Amino acid sequence: MVLLVMMMMVKLVKLVSFFLVVLLFLVNASFALYTPLDNYLIACGSSQNITFQGHTFVPDSQHSSLVSKTGDSIVVTSNSRLVPFPIYQSARIFTEKSSYTFEIEQEGRHWLRLYFYPVPNSGHDLISAAITVVTDDFVLLSNFTFRNYKGSYMFKEYAINVTSETLIVTFIPSIGSVAFVNAIEVVSMPDELFFDQALALHPPAPFSGLSELAFETVYRLNIGGSFLNAQNDTLGRTWDNDLKYLHVNSSVTNVSVSPSNIKYPKGVTAETAPNSVYATAEAMGNANVANSNFNITWVFPVDRNFSYFIRLHFCDIMSKSLNTLVFNVYINNDTALGSLDLSSITNDLAVPYYKDFVSNVSVDSDNLTVSVGPDTMADITNATMSGLEIMKISNALKSLDGFSSVESFLPSSSSKKNTIGIIVGCVVGAVAAIAFVGLCYCCLVQRNSKSTQQGRPLLSLPLYGNSQTMTKMSTISQKSGTASCISLSSINLGRVFTFQEILDASNKFDERLLLGVGGFGRVYKGTLEDGTNIAVKRGNPRSEQGIAEFRTEIEMLSKLRHRHLVSLIGYCDERSEMILVYECMANGPLRSHLYGTDLPPLSWKQRLEICIGAARGLHYLHTGASQSIIHRDVKTTNILLDDNFVAKVADFGLSKTGPALDQTHVSTAVKGSFGYLDPEYFRRQQLTEKSDVYSFGVVLMEVLCTRPALNPVLPRDQVNIAEWAMSWQKKGMLDQIMDQKLIGSVNPASLKKFGETAEKCLAEYGVDRPSMGDVLWNLEYALQLQETASSALMEPEDNSTNHITGIQLTTLQNFDNSVSMIDGENSATDDDAEDAATSAVFSQLVNPHGR
Ligand SMILES: *[C@@H]1O[C@H](CO)[C@@H](O)[C@H](O)[C@H]1NC(C)=O
Ligand SMILES: *[C@@H]1O[C@H](CO)[C@@H](O)[C@H](O)[C@H]1NC(C)=O
Ligand SMILES: *[C@@H]1O[C@H](CO)[C@@H](O)[C@H](O)[C@H]1NC(C)=O
Ligand SMILES: *[C@@H]1O[C@H](CO)[C@@H](O)[C@H](O)[C@H]1NC(C)=O
Repeated sequence: MVLLVMMMMVKLVKLVSFFLVVLLFLVNASFALYTPLDNYLIACGSSQNITFQGHTFVPDSQHSSLVSKTGDSIVVTSNSRLVPFPIYQSARIFTEKSSYTFEIEQEGRHWLRLYFYPVPNSGHDLISAAITVVTDDFVLLSNFTFRNYKGSYMFKEYAINVTSETLIVTFIPSIGSVAFVNAIEVVSMPDELFFDQALALHPPAPFSGLSELAFETVYRLNIGGSFLNAQNDTLGRTWDNDLKYLHVNSSVTNVSVSPSNIKYPKGVTAETAPNSVYATAEAMGNANVANSNFNITWVFPVDRNFSYFIRLHFCDIMSKSLNTLVFNVYINNDTALGSLDLSSITNDLAVPYYKDFVSNVSVDSDNLTVSVGPDTMADITNATMSGLEIMKISNALKSLDGFSSVESFLPSSSSKKNTIGIIVGCVVGAVAAIAFVGLCYCCLVQRNSKSTQQGRPLLSLPLYGNSQTMTKMSTISQKSGTASCISLSSINLGRVFTFQEILDASNKFDERLLLGVGGFGRVYKGTLEDGTNIAVKRGNPRSEQGIAEFRTEIEMLSKLRHRHLVSLIGYCDERSEMILVYECMANGPLRSHLYGTDLPPLSWKQRLEICIGAARGLHYLHTGASQSIIHRDVKTTNILLDDNFVAKVADFGLSKTGPALDQTHVSTAVKGSFGYLDPEYFRRQQLTEKSDVYSFGVVLMEVLCTRPALNPVLPRDQVNIAEWAMSWQKKGMLDQIMDQKLIGSVNPASLKKFGETAEKCLAEYGVDRPSMGDVLWNLEYALQLQETASSALMEPEDNSTNHITGIQLTTLQNFDNSVSMIDGENSATDDDAEDAATSAVFSQLVNPHGR
């Protein structure tokens, strides 16, 4: 059944993507393929055109707009069968300093590609010839010889920003020897290919000034795919397979789709990388539950004396729905991208995305490593990467090879030009330094002024200073048709925080404090100045959905106060930020206590208590308020645990009031998390409380089996926990698939009750599912069975564990009487009071064996 739903989903996605492709095609049709203005393909020393990888190289002697200022040069051609490719058949050998001058039509970055092969029988010892190659500005090769070069030929690719009308490439032999080259390419590239900025990693900070620097390609990989040569790439690049760089311990699976499925977004084109790069990827192989916690790592030998430009290409070609794939990316041991959720950036699947970094290779290693690995916050344990480029960056001496500057090789000729270059460099450097000092000063000043802003009174409305946002908001509220024309000023939303306070509390949104990522935005851990721990949820201001969810969440939370619902401390709406501040849940999401981390396993009793707490929170949502509320995104990452492992339901961003539901509104958007989604809701798009009950059933199975709701790498019949666990439950063999760590400590009757409860929750039709109240009652009973079994013949349990509490819940409390959320005294709430009122229920439970 669920598979059917999955298939429907895939079909839907396909249909949508088809329209997108058509749309993209129409948009793209107006742009021609990139044609380089400068396009020199030179076969040095050759007497005839040579075709290599689909491109025609013209002999250097015949090229019209090429000036070769060669001193004494010799031409050799070999017909030896040893020659690896035709392009290496001929060479020009220089006995003294010689250069090629290329007329440049279009300033900007150019590919400069050099082909070297020590052609046999040339009459010179080409293998030990020490070759130096320089341009006006950069040293490309410094005394290179083939002596230790096991690969018989050498191909070099550079990306150099040419800012004058000519590019002069000079070959310098060492004293008493010769230099040579077989072929040269000088080809312009689009301006949008490389930018001035990238993210430096150690420490993390923006790095600018790249456009002044030369790059040398050292690795370019089509991850999970095959070798692509110049013919398969509109910019004549080659892409290697990644297998030989994979760390031995990385167990991976190749994933691929048809290249035509790739949907380039604005700003990414086939020039960024061909679609055949994005259409293949490596993903985590064999991500079996027990040991799903590993990274896929690629290891690249590099020269530790240089910095590297690293471009990572991603494309989610595996997920079946949005926001299911969240993973971490590391470069060396630094987190390059934490909790990367591709679909929240691209808003669609199979959409390419890339990110640039600059890395100083760590001083104690000659290797650069790139890893992707699972994020504990994610629903699905997986990670992926599609392509990777690593380019060496020229050093302070403008060299890509060694520690000599161009001047040391060309003492007189272009010294004037280089002096200018150095002056410009200094000015740029000085400006940057001044800017940096200025920035620091500003920060300091702000920091100092902050203290005066503190202690702002509780509420100052309107919620949004930004009137434009306000308008957007009211439109949404009209559309949604929920009876929620609440006047925000009449409700205590808690403390208003200044943005500076939030920055201080979260250490400027330090990625190391990241707790999770959701549709709405990122959640960080923080500490207020008084030491209170908080969770800061920062919305993405650009996302419409974000604004709607922000509003929903505030509205919901302002109406709800319950011991088993995470409570709001305050918010910040400065600078069009949407930030919510919650009580800190010290033990984090339930999921991280089940699998994917090293946290100690929860006992069966703890698990039952947590499920009961969450069920109580949901029951309150469904019945406690004047209008029933459907959470719509019940999952183990939305059930949080406080320092006493009390479970609280979080994330009301998708919640909807019901049952007086505006049907048309709901039918436009099936929301929720894949794997937890009620199949009936999906099919009929009718939202009821029973959809939450279904999702809760998935949570119960997850708690028992400690595996993700959806694990696409498992065999087909195991992918979906609901289907898989149900098949075992129906056989009465749930104990076969439960968490190994529980074996021996679970009372069979308790397990049976639990399994039956989960089974009922997962019923195909909503009408057959129990209410949350029934679920709660059954879980209490399962706990009681466990307790009686373990405490048989023991002292009666002390009263401090108050899990046998009520099912009846009071209606929504009067806000004036509600416990203040600011001072955190929210422990003595309704459910404690209910304990007495529901002693009747308790009495039914005291002797479970009698039932
Ligand atoms: C070599 O190639 C160039 C450019 O493609 C072409 O114009 C020229 O006619 C070719 N020469 C020969 C001898 O084929
Ligand atoms: C090349 O350098 C010039 C001058 O520094 C700069 O203005 C331009 O943006 C650079 N182009 C690229 C593609 O980096
Ligand atoms: C993945 O690599 C990073 C960086 O080295 C490390 O911090 C992290 O613990 C690794 N994760 C796993 C699951 O091994
Ligand atoms: C890095 O530079 C040092 C000299 O400072 C040199 O001895 C070493 O060989 C260089 N490393 C590599 C890998 O070339």
